Amino acid sequence: MALASVTERILKRLASSDAQPRPLTADDVHRILRDAERLQDNWGTDYEYDRHQGPAPALDVILRDEVLPTLHLVPADADRLVEAARQEQARRDQRRRQAALRELHAAVGRRFAEASLDNYEATSAEQKKVLEAVKGYAANIGQHVADGAGLVAFGAAGTGKTHLLAAVAKVAVEADLTIHWINGQDLFARFRAAIDGSESEAKIVQGFVSPDVLVVDDVLPPSGALTEYQASTLYRIVDARYRACSPTWATLNVANGAEAERGMSAQVVDRLRHGSLCVFCDWPSHRKAQA
Ligand SMILES: Nc1ncnc2c1ncn2[C@@H]1O[C@H](COP(=O)(O)OP(=O)(O)OP(=O)(O)O)[C@@H](O)[C@H]1O
Ligand SMILES: [Mg+2]
Repeated sequence: MALASVTERILKRLASSDAQPRPLTADDVHRILRDAERLQDNWGTDYEYDRHQGPAPALDVILRDEVLPTLHLVPADADRLVEAARQEQARRDQRRRQAALRELHAAVGRRFAEASLDNYEATSAEQKKVLEAVKGYAANIGQHVADGAGLVAFGAAGTGKTHLLAAVAKVAVEADLTIHWINGQDLFARFRAAIDGSESEAKIVQGFVSPDVLVVDDVLPPSGALTEYQASTLYRIVDARYRACSPTWATLNVANGAEAERGMSAQVVDRLRHGSLCVFCDWPSHRKAQA
């Protein structure tokens, strides 16, 4: 969308005041900012602005690059506008992160609302090693996700696999990565339901491929093995993400790779593992410890 009429009117008014620009009123600042927001919201959708490609820049960048060059302002007003845009962008980022965190909590479940890497108790040497490795992944999350490097936690029930991935998922949200968390069985059920509702398979796969990170918690059902249909569905999603260099994180209730391959397929296991951090949670259940 073009700079909307509000700014254009203000521009004309300011331009007509010749060499000596008139200071902006608070209302002018507000309206120019709203226009910059509209430009950001509609970034890349207006054919008149075919140079507006890729992700929309921050509001202060839009203001500096798109709006200020067209305005005739007293210098202090330019600074004031950019600062106001920076603050508005920070508020927007914060709101977006909070909404994403609420969505993540709803998907993972209230039990894990407080799960973090700091409250994961590591007493044995194995636990400490796993926790350090997962912390290392979290510390560099942007790079790992950009590289398509996944995260796989496997091991027996109650060893904290979901806790660890939920904790790293929160770090991902804080780093402004998009994340879709789903339980394995729910994924297959959703796939089935969508197809029954005549949505195309390609579109459903695309929905699981587009987020920066897909987390499939408990990929394998309690029986230990996927059906043929489930295995091929999972392959389509994991393979599409793998080709796009987008990481898939998973928790698996298995004791080793061979067991994982028996439960799904070697091709899926191979893709999940390739370049990923795989941690084996090989200690007694935390649930039993608390019982
Ligand atoms: N080392 C730990 N420190 C603190 N809390 C833990 C730890 N391990 C597990 N928990 C807690 O114990 C409960 C069970 O852990 P979690 O569900 O993450 O295990 P899991 O390995 O995913 O089990 P399952 O395979 O049955 O899904 C959770 O409430 C989790 O927060
Ligand atoms: Mg779990």
